[in-house]
Amino acid sequence: MSDSFNNSPIGVFDSGVGGLTVAREILRQYSNESIVYFGDTARVPYGSKSKDIIIRYSKQIINFLKTKDVKAIVVACNTASAYALDEVERELDIPIIGVVKPGAKVAARTTKNRRVGIIGTEGTINSGLYTKIIQGIDKDITVYGKACPLFAPLVEEGMLHDSITDEVAARYLEELKKEDVDSLILGCTHYPLLRDTIGEIMGESVNLVNPAYETAVGLGSLMDELGIQASSDHEAIYEFYVSDAAEKFKRFANSILPLDIEKIQQIDIEEYSTSL
Ligand code: DGL
Repeated sequence: MSDSFNNSPIGVFDSGVGGLTVAREILRQYSNESIVYFGDTARVPYGSKSKDIIIRYSKQIINFLKTKDVKAIVVACNTASAYALDEVERELDIPIIGVVKPGAKVAARTTKNRRVGIIGTEGTINSGLYTKIIQGIDKDITVYGKACPLFAPLVEEGMLHDSITDEVAARYLEELKKEDVDSLILGCTHYPLLRDTIGEIMGESVNLVNPAYETAVGLGSLMDELGIQASSDHEAIYEFYVSDAAEKFKRFANSILPLDIEKIQQIDIEEYSTSL
């Protein structure tokens, strides 16, 4: 591929701020790759919405990202990866990667007692996709899913180290602890930010799998395979778009990214077509 094509940005999208944990891993691992990020802050949360709605939203966002000439798309949202990736992948002419498969594969490979836990939104857990992928790799692995809908708002309120969060986490994770899982997938964009709390409750013997990190690794392999990595002297440009509440997004982004974002642009995502 030509340098100018390879230096095009990677499109990353999520229902809101959570996907910044994925963008953060991409920019840590590939400092010369440009990123166009879209957070659907007007329509968040995705975790409690239906599959049809998530597919519709994802298609609109992909159509927006296409106007930015992205060379590849990362579906940073677990719920959108679980509900929409299969459908959009079939219709798309650019490479696309979600967060579910990379995390599921690592958990299947690393579990020793073949008992894996997965925490995520209602949508992600109900989709059964993590279970399907893990058992597709090894049918003898038992997967225990648990929806933790309060985690994302607690993270967005900045309550990462707070007794309320500790209490909520202890209740959510009780069941998984009893099931003696040795690997736990942090299957929602926000959960890597609760790693310390979750790790303390689950104990040192439980391996916490971070799909955000694994997806960035998977993206690297995909770019290698397709020969679409940015040139080594390319200076990365980062652009951030939201559908609402740009200032709030900016505060959150600047609290977790290793760089200071000056400008967040708001767009009307409803203007984009719902078909690819
Ligand atoms: N980004 C979503 C996910 O990873 C969590 C927030 C939401 O429910 O929209 O599933």
